[in-house]
Amino acid sequence: MLLQGKAAIVTGAASGIGAASAALFAEHGAQVLAVDRPDTGLVAKHAGNNAIHALELDITGDAAPRMLIGAARDRLGGIDVLFNNAGVSSNALAEHMTDADWDRTFAVNVRAMFRICREAIPTLRQAAEKKGRARIINTASVMAFDTDYGLSAYTASKHGVAGLTKTLALELGKYRITANYVLPGAIQTGMTKASFDNEEIRKVWEKKAALRRLGQPVDIARAALLLASDHADFITGHGLVADGGLTLRT
Ligand SMILES: NC(=O)c1ccc[n+]([C@@H]2O[C@H](COP(=O)([O-])OP(=O)(O)OC[C@H]3O[C@@H](n4cnc5c(N)ncnc54)[C@H](O)[C@@H]3O)[C@@H](O)[C@H]2O)c1
Repeated sequence: MLLQGKAAIVTGAASGIGAASAALFAEHGAQVLAVDRPDTGLVAKHAGNNAIHALELDITGDAAPRMLIGAARDRLGGIDVLFNNAGVSSNALAEHMTDADWDRTFAVNVRAMFRICREAIPTLRQAAEKKGRARIINTASVMAFDTDYGLSAYTASKHGVAGLTKTLALELGKYRITANYVLPGAIQTGMTKASFDNEEIRKVWEKKAALRRLGQPVDIARAALLLASDHADFITGHGLVADGGLTLRT
C-alpha cells in the first residue's frame, strides 16, 4: 500500500498507461481523480471502483486547469500526487507537418501539462507543508532523447516535457515537492494499437528491446508508482526510462 491516504490526479485515464495507473494507484490506497476527454469510456473503464472518481474534461480548454484542480480539492480534499500523463501523437515528415498538427500535439503534451502544474502548485504546497511531501510526475517518452521519422512535433513536445519537469523540480524542491518524468519505450496502448496490431511491426519492436517484449501499460504505471511513493523522497528532476532496454543500443 504505497499510496495509503494520498489524493492523486491521473490524466489520460480512460486508456493505456493512464487507465493502468489510476487502477494501480487506487490498489495502493490512493483516492484517484481520473481525467479524460468526454466520450472516451472513462466512467465505464473504472466503474465499480469506489476509490476512482471520474472527471470528463478536455485538458486543453482555457478553464480546464481551474476546473481540474477545483474538482480535486472538492472531491479528494487536496492533491498529493499529480500525474500528467495524457498525450497525443502526430506523424508527418517535417516537410508536410501542418500547423494544426503541430499545435494540437503541443496543446496537449506541453501547454496543458504546464498550465495544470501551474494551477496545482498552491495545492501541492499545502499538501507538502502538512504531510512533508508532494509529487508531480509527467509522462515524456524515450522520444525525450531519441527521435524517428515523422516525429518532429511529438519529439519536440517530449523534449519539452523533460525541460519543463526539470525546471519545476528546481523551483519546487524547497517546498518538498518533487517533479520527475517517465520515459516509456514501446508500450501496447490505444496510441500504438494500429502499429502493434500489425504482427510484422510488433515483432520488430519486440526484438529491439533487451527484454524481447513490448511494454504493457502496467509496466509504466509501476514506474510512476515508484516516483509517487514516499520511497522517492530524494529523487527529483529525474527521467526514469521504462523501456525494457529498447534504447540500450546505438
Ligand atoms: N504507448 C507508447 O508506446 C508510449 C511511448 C512513450 C510515451 N507514451 C506516452 O504515454 C502517455 C499515455 O499514452 P498511451 O500510450 O497510454 O495512449 P492512449 O491513447 O491509450 O492514452 C492516452 C489518453 O490521453 C487522453 N487524452 C488525449 N488528449 C486529451 C485531452 N485533450 N484531454 C484529456 N485527455 C486527453 C486520450 O483520450 C487517451 O485516453 C502519452 O503522454 C504518450 O505520449 C506512450
